[in-house]
Amino acid sequence: MKKLMQMPFWLVTMERKWLVPLIASTLISIILILAATLSLGVASHGMRSSVFQFLPLWEEEHAQFIEEITEEEPAGSLPPAPRFAYLISGTKGDGSRMQRVLQALYHPRNYYLLHLDLEAPTRERVELAHYVRNQPAFAEAQNVYVVGKANLVTYRGPTMIAATLHGAAILLRRSKDWDWFINLSASDYPLITQDDLLHVFSYLPKDLNFIEHTSDIGWKEFQRAKPIIIDPGLYMDKKTDIFWATQRRAVPSAFRLFTGSAWVVLTRSFMEYCIQGYDNLPRTLLMYYTNFVSSPEGYFHTVLCNSQEFRNTTVNHDLHYITWDTPPRQHPLSLTVDDLQNLTASGAAFARKFDYDDPVLDKIDETLLQRPKGKFTPGGWCIGTDTHVDPCSIRGESSVLRPGPGARRFEDLVFHLLSPSMFRSQQCISPQ
Ligand SMILES: *[C@@H]1O[C@H](CO)[C@@H](O)[C@H](O)[C@H]1NC(C)=O
Ligand SMILES: *[C@@H]1O[C@H](CO)[C@@H](O)[C@H](O)[C@H]1NC(C)=O
Ligand SMILES: *[C@@H]1O[C@H](CO)[C@@H](O)[C@H](O)[C@H]1NC(C)=O
Repeated sequence: MKKLMQMPFWLVTMERKWLVPLIASTLISIILILAATLSLGVASHGMRSSVFQFLPLWEEEHAQFIEEITEEEPAGSLPPAPRFAYLISGTKGDGSRMQRVLQALYHPRNYYLLHLDLEAPTRERVELAHYVRNQPAFAEAQNVYVVGKANLVTYRGPTMIAATLHGAAILLRRSKDWDWFINLSASDYPLITQDDLLHVFSYLPKDLNFIEHTSDIGWKEFQRAKPIIIDPGLYMDKKTDIFWATQRRAVPSAFRLFTGSAWVVLTRSFMEYCIQGYDNLPRTLLMYYTNFVSSPEGYFHTVLCNSQEFRNTTVNHDLHYITWDTPPRQHPLSLTVDDLQNLTASGAAFARKFDYDDPVLDKIDETLLQRPKGKFTPGGWCIGTDTHVDPCSIRGESSVLRPGPGARRFEDLVFHLLSPSMFRSQQCISPQ
């Protein structure tokens, strides 16, 4: 309720046209989200649309914001914008794509750790580190890091999990104030601006873990859970593919297996639980998953859903737009300009996968992010007004957000995911 009473301050920082729909939707968001998290079940999607009937049309196309520089906000006046810690991973040849993803995703509030795995030559890693060092925005915010001592990563093997945990551990050590850990690859791309994402997340409870999961492991029981694999990446200095042992093992009875998308948005407290926690479950499962095919599609899912403390915090979605091959849905299809409409409509925050410099990326920059070529995605922190230079070369207050139409699309998705009929009923459900 505190948040609601403090809304008026918000008014002064936004342009008129936005006020009514934005506040109405924000107020309802808070109520709905609170209701969802407390599982009161009082609110529904229907209630929201009936409220919107009385409001002026949402003028996405014409939305404009005043350039604004506010003073330091009085403490607690708005829900403070959160911070994300991104791990962006890639391999040989991914250096320049990684720069592009970073420009599209950059916001001075967040942290970014770039990992080019051991297959990438040292030269490429050094080039990336040079690029990072020479960007004045990064130098000022000190929030972009490059892993120098790279890991050997076998994509279907446990070395992938090891690299992800390593990245999260660095980010935990490096900065004490981020709220969510997001793992991306160089072939992912954002569909909304960081201002949009930070804005919507500022209204969410800080304990929600976004992870797509199911305990209905189906064919994976035979092809994933029973085989025993070894990943030579753990002990050899050159990469070779995983190999299978002749023995098979039983499906575990000490815990239930969950599986799902390898793309995750996890809370700081859950990452601490996995990396520094005193509960032994994350370690036991890490060792179990050492011999599991495609462990990134199961490790965090199984830890979360077998932990009393965290199973209540799962939201069953990875916030990505991904299209798959026809069953068994093992390979994401490359997205092209033909997918633009669907990926926009999905409301997702990220999409994958994209081929190197595919034209659809230019379209996304142009229509969804308003990102000029080679520059940062503009946001409330970019306050330069000289039209010849990058507006982000002059940095304003990083807590000032300018959410655009993407916030609206993403909010719709989050609404849906947290609606009473979706949220609780999709958490770690297991048959019986
Ligand atoms: C993290 O992101 C990478 C993309 O590089 C992905 O392949 C991996 O499986 C993800 N998930 C985990 C749990 O490591
Ligand atoms: C999880 O949710 C259930 C029911 O929704 C509740 O009974 C339980 O106390 C919650 N546990 C935690 C740790 O919040
Ligand atoms: C977009 O979505 C529609 C409806 O789900 C589907 O029929 C269509 O094939 C999709 N288009 C592409 C290019 O995937």
